Amino acid sequence: MKRLKNPFYNRDIVSIKDFQRPDLDYLFHVANEIKTSLPNDSLKNKSIGLMFLEPSTRTRLSFESAMNSLGGKSISFGNLSDSSTQKGENLSDSLLTMDQYVDAIILRHASEGVSRYASEICKNPIINAGSGSEEHPTQAMLDVYTILNECGKVDNLNIAIFGDLKYGRTVYSLLYALSNYKPNIYLVSPKPLQLRSDPLIELKNTLNISVHENLQDIISDLDVIYTTRIQKERFPDLQEYERVKGSYKIDNNLLTNAKENLVLLHPMPRSDEIPGEIDNTPYAKYFNQVSAGKLIRSTLLHLIFTENPSF
Ligand code: CP
Repeated sequence: MKRLKNPFYNRDIVSIKDFQRPDLDYLFHVANEIKTSLPNDSLKNKSIGLMFLEPSTRTRLSFESAMNSLGGKSISFGNLSDSSTQKGENLSDSLLTMDQYVDAIILRHASEGVSRYASEICKNPIINAGSGSEEHPTQAMLDVYTILNECGKVDNLNIAIFGDLKYGRTVYSLLYALSNYKPNIYLVSPKPLQLRSDPLIELKNTLNISVHENLQDIISDLDVIYTTRIQKERFPDLQEYERVKGSYKIDNNLLTNAKENLVLLHPMPRSDEIPGEIDNTPYAKYFNQVSAGKLIRSTLLHLIFTENPSF
């Protein structure tokens, strides 16, 4: 690839919709370079602020680990109960305070729109690490990168997005990322957990989408299944959750009809929708996805802070 202008330099990463196919191609190209020659002191004068106002394992650890590997530093907002939020400080003041101490803020929040708002008031880049049921753009980047690595392409693949499509934010970011390519998308979920209607209408303009309730009917067609957990914490009514909990699952019986090279992905965390026994099958690639998380986030941090990277 010829040297291109870095589209991530000093950018906010708020929505995957802000990035197009050439941006993703560039990110994945640099990720492949960094995989073999990590620029391990490139961020030695940089720091990030981790503001995870909702729980996280992978996103938080991968950003922290990425920053360590690049020689940078990270500081953490910690639990809400340890900060001045406990004394009534508002989110704006907490964000503007963090903005004085670091060069970029990694923000996870339960409310939609908070990352966009943060990007408008802070001087340093904001990276959306998950905003309510809305978006998780860096997850989508690593998800597409994993599909490319496992399948060698995205175009013409039959990709099922399976599970809680209503509340799963990774689903929305992934579908918008995939709309840069030409896969066939199968949306598979119990009826109450179908994709929200406005995004579905919008996505149908760019993606070939079919809607299903039963994975068994289509399993033999699929190249990739991307499963998601039921997002219990997003249900406005716990009775609604009780009606759908445990209503879908990947099991060995289902997989007897799968293609030999089917790729099973999951953004994690998981509940019972992919039981541990599936981990031992050749289909299970979700820990490769976890591994790609550190690589893609290392690449993003390097590119956000480095105007002219040597790739
Ligand atoms: N995929 C993902 O966002 O995982 P965490 O909630 O553990 O960060």
